[in-house]
Amino acid sequence: MDTRSELQATVEALVQPGKGLLAADESGPTIAKRFKTIGLESTEENRRAYRNLLLGTAGLGEYVSGVILYEETLGQKADDGTPFPQLSAKNGVVPGIKVDLGKIPLALAPGDEITEGLDGLAKRYVDYKRQGARFAKWRAVYNITASLPSRLAIEANADSLARYAAISQEAGIVPIVEPEVLMDGDHSIERSASVTEAVLHEVFNALARHNVVLEHILLKPSMVLAGSEHAQQSSTAEIAEATLRVLKRTVPSAVPGLVFLSGGQTPEEATANLDAMNRLGPLPWNLSFSYGRALQEPPLQEWQGKPGNVAAAQKALFKRARLNSAAALGKYDASQEKE
Ligand code: 13P
Repeated sequence: MDTRSELQATVEALVQPGKGLLAADESGPTIAKRFKTIGLESTEENRRAYRNLLLGTAGLGEYVSGVILYEETLGQKADDGTPFPQLSAKNGVVPGIKVDLGKIPLALAPGDEITEGLDGLAKRYVDYKRQGARFAKWRAVYNITASLPSRLAIEANADSLARYAAISQEAGIVPIVEPEVLMDGDHSIERSASVTEAVLHEVFNALARHNVVLEHILLKPSMVLAGSEHAQQSSTAEIAEATLRVLKRTVPSAVPGLVFLSGGQTPEEATANLDAMNRLGPLPWNLSFSYGRALQEPPLQEWQGKPGNVAAAQKALFKRARLNSAAALGKYDASQEKE
């Protein structure tokens, strides 16, 4: 298959009504932090057992079209010896890979951060593709304060995201472009809106400069909401309205799918907010989820690292996936939480 057809086929497999992505690509330090909440040590075997639980959930493919994996997981095997990418593909879930190498302070820009990982990326894709990855993710992070993010951070991160997207498309890998405006801090929803708008304008400007084909990317945005320490927390209706206003101003309708990150919202909030946005349609793009914590918190808490709890944990993941699928169609109701 030529590269264009390959990209198109992957986009069509990922962007389906009522389906979203499972972000299970926590790096070593991040998964250690998640395991700590259940008092579990982050050994290679514990990480494998946990990813086995997630990817082995029967019927997950009904609601989840793709899973983002960490490099280590891409090379690990399920209990029966099946490599994880193959297990997930067998369940109708397209395997993808987080390719950024994390963030570091942006030099000479105190408080701002930049994401690393471009050097050698084209070469790394040869192995990732051989292992079964069909799409990728790169996350840029923007901290909000009265003076941050700086213009420099907005431009430098946009350029890295665009170079990553171009390298990915050249390799036949669909890039998920993730500019995350953090919800940490005491800023207002208006401030979150203006920062997110500036960030997205710059990201799409850079994607155009780098010749990235918009029909063959997915955008993974953060929702527009007041900082978690702000006195006035935003309502679901305010978040839906503000987020859609910013997205409509900045994201071309050529982009086939937008998949939100959850960013520290509770599972119920993340579901309700996605649902509220889809009820405000019709929208120019498919609007769905690519949640990490908002999909994984319930199963992780059920699991507690114990083999005997695997079935209950899978049930909890399946339920969260089902409710988010309903939200992706604008058909979620809080009463479904009790079913
Ligand atoms: P959260 O949904 O937990 O924010 O994770 C999504 C993700 O992939 C962040 O890069």
